[in-house]
Amino acid sequence: MISERMEAALNAQINKEIYSAYLYLSMSAYSTFIGLKGFANWFMVQYQEEMAHAMKFYQYINEQGGRVTLRAIEQPPTEWQSLMDMFEKTLAHEQFVTRSINELVDLAITEKDHATQIFLQWFVTEQIEEEGNDNEIITKLKLVGGAGNGLLMIDKELELRAFTPPAAAA
Ligand code: FEO
Repeated sequence: MISERMEAALNAQINKEIYSAYLYLSMSAYSTFIGLKGFANWFMVQYQEEMAHAMKFYQYINEQGGRVTLRAIEQPPTEWQSLMDMFEKTLAHEQFVTRSINELVDLAITEKDHATQIFLQWFVTEQIEEEGNDNEIITKLKLVGGAGNGLLMIDKELELRAFTPPAAAA
């Protein structure tokens, strides 16, 4: 059982996760357009991860006898100044999601909702990994100055990323 307030907050998080998916799908499309297949792949995997995150919240609300209500998804940006710009915006967005997850945990603690606290722990850990991945790529882009052969090497590396569904990864 979850409270109405918690149900509303979890539904709002579904919207944030699907917006995240939409944002990264837009980044994938832009990467394809500028000819960087590896970056396009990395963001496509990120899109799949975000949809899986949204579905984790979706299933949890249902399991708890709550009601899933879907809202409009905001339009994401469609172009960026550079790859560095794209990854800095990605990191800033993930930091926003981390704050949102932390607020959900705070609410679960306030409400003494132990089940939701346990459910959210997976996301607390996941956000460390998400921010870590972005920081790593930003560091690499800085090293190569965001251009040239170095950039193509990063593109090759990012082409190897594959999607692993969260349940199988746990
Ligand atoms: Fe679902 Fe990237 O946080």
